[in-house]
Amino acid sequence: MDRRPETYYLETFGCQMNVLDSQLVEGQLRDLGLRRVPSSQQADVILFNTCSVRQHAEDKVCSRLGRLKTLKRHRPQTIIGVIGCMAERQKEALFESVPHLDLLCGPGELHRLPGLIQQAWERGRPVAALAGLQSRRTPALERALEDDELEMLDLSRRMDRSDNLLRSYVRVQRGCDKFCTYCVVPFVRGPQRSRPPAHILQEVEALSRQGCREVTLLGQTVNSYAYPEDGRKVGLARLLERVHAVAGINRIRFVTSYPAEWDEDIFRVMRDYPRICPHLHIPAQSGSDRILQAMNRRYTVADYLRLVDTARRYIPDLALAGDFIVGFCGETERDFQATVDLVRAVQYQTLFVFKYSPRPGTAAERNQNDDVPHSVKVRRNNELLAVQSEISRRQKQAWIGQSVEVLVEGYSKAAAKPHSRQPAQLVGRTPHDLITVFYGQPEHIGAIVKVRVESASALTLHGRLESVLSPPPARVIGPSD
Ligand code: 5AD
Ligand code: SF4
Repeated sequence: MDRRPETYYLETFGCQMNVLDSQLVEGQLRDLGLRRVPSSQQADVILFNTCSVRQHAEDKVCSRLGRLKTLKRHRPQTIIGVIGCMAERQKEALFESVPHLDLLCGPGELHRLPGLIQQAWERGRPVAALAGLQSRRTPALERALEDDELEMLDLSRRMDRSDNLLRSYVRVQRGCDKFCTYCVVPFVRGPQRSRPPAHILQEVEALSRQGCREVTLLGQTVNSYAYPEDGRKVGLARLLERVHAVAGINRIRFVTSYPAEWDEDIFRVMRDYPRICPHLHIPAQSGSDRILQAMNRRYTVADYLRLVDTARRYIPDLALAGDFIVGFCGETERDFQATVDLVRAVQYQTLFVFKYSPRPGTAAERNQNDDVPHSVKVRRNNELLAVQSEISRRQKQAWIGQSVEVLVEGYSKAAAKPHSRQPAQLVGRTPHDLITVFYGQPEHIGAIVKVRVESASALTLHGRLESVLSPPPARVIGPSD
């Protein structure tokens, strides 16, 4: 080849784990000397970081890939790659369905991406790095996990001046061992592994030095974080205490929690350590014990409600987010009503509702019938959202007249960038994770300010700036080396 690839385009689908993986991938691409471009039309390397959790997420990527066929014909040297969960799930079969695809890289192999890109560019033929995970633990797998090369990718996290680090994700755990019958995650991200606390702290400290004020610790079942240290287990509660001690970090969150196997110590730490936000994402998935059992969730509705009660006893103003799947195999109208009842009982702040989507290879897809018609899934989905929307509206109204602390992220979508010192509409979040907009000055970006809430819509609080509680952090170092 006469020249080297110079530019890349990267599009991310799916969860926060993918957002973080994409940041790590971008760091590696910059190290390779590649520059980000805003459109695939101008890029030498086009990557999609993909999600497999529902069919719809995969369909979106397929349609994007389809549209690149002509581009590849005109510029055959361009590398088109699928990275992340969809690569791991479909493996080399993707090369057959998308003949103009050049590269596949699973979520556990992302540290190999620079080498793969070089290979694909030099050899001009398809390349793949996949784990081919056996998801069940075996001694061979245990050894491979101990020697976790991917860990180096998180540790060598590259940061650039253009990155918005104000709110950053930090991985504390990879994979999942729960095997809920509908879920593809254990198959594409492998078994659960907790990262060493020292590595996590090293990363949080580096982020803090570069201007990060809020960290969200990420794990598929983050409350089951456990790392052996001097013969004792460091669980999530101890990890939170240590992260809380890092100077400069004003807010700490953690997602996603699993409703069983809770250590009450986590609630105690949330109550006693002021910088841990009063917010939990604990998916219930269904309000029917029969369906929970069919999903292989290891709790009952009564267990779930007890957990919420305990959490609220420690943290009375706790904001809860939840996930529900509607139309799972065998879900009757009665099961669905039980879900509606649970949503009413819990009073979530935020709810995510998904229509069941059978995933090849999962236990539900193999052994259970996807017998709820699509039209019924759609109706249940809308009904549950309507119930929630009334709850959200009432909850938001209750904030009117109160003062909230907002970590200011930037200009609101509605705002045009201001000329000089015109007040601009800014947006940020409260510790309860409520999006708040208000008029302020550009120099408030990165600050924590006090805002008096004057009105509220279904998703957003609107208010007036009262005071600056703490100024934006100084960015003390630029790109790390
Ligand atoms: N179909 C629909 N929703 C799913 N989820 C996971 N797997 C599926 C599936 N096969 C939902 C769960 C999970 C969220 C991330 O996605 O609610 O909590
Ligand atoms: Fe999937 Fe269940 Fe693991 Fe969550 S806990 S990632 S839903 S298998």
